[in-house]
Amino acid sequence: MRREKFLWPITHAHHYGLMAAKAIQRKLEEKPAGKDLGKLRRETANFFDADMNSHIGLEEEMLGQLACHTSPADPFVEKARREHRELHGLVKKGDARSLELFAEKLIRHIYFEEDKLFPAVEEQFTQSEKEWLETEIQFNIHNWSKTAAFSRNNPGRKP
Ligand SMILES: [Fe+2]
Ligand SMILES: [Fe+2]
Repeated sequence: MRREKFLWPITHAHHYGLMAAKAIQRKLEEKPAGKDLGKLRRETANFFDADMNSHIGLEEEMLGQLACHTSPADPFVEKARREHRELHGLVKKGDARSLELFAEKLIRHIYFEEDKLFPAVEEQFTQSEKEWLETEIQFNIHNWSKTAAFSRNNPGRKP
């Protein structure tokens, strides 16, 4: 299904999120340890703090509004909120296995949002709610282009 325009910036951000997750996976394939693992841990934490935090904050606002239409126990709302917490927890742990799980979970989370959650938002939100969300997105999603740097700095990046 074609994504409605008010969600385009957040969908675009998801593209960068997938690139970051894949960059993390590529780096982990090299079995980093010691200093290298520490660097990957810092890069991932910086990505989370600088980019994902504002993205998640915005989605949490969206989820709150969706729950007004459906229910706070809406399974999509619960799943998205739970996964946001889990993603944060994995970044905080920061060991190689947690970073691996973070990258896998982020990819699945993004596909869930694009395939299931956003169609529900498009269906449930009124026109004025869509306009409200579009404005919120424009003011809050401005850091995601930095995610490209995450990938660009990866020496193992394939052409
Ligand atoms: Fe999310
Ligand atoms: Fe998202």
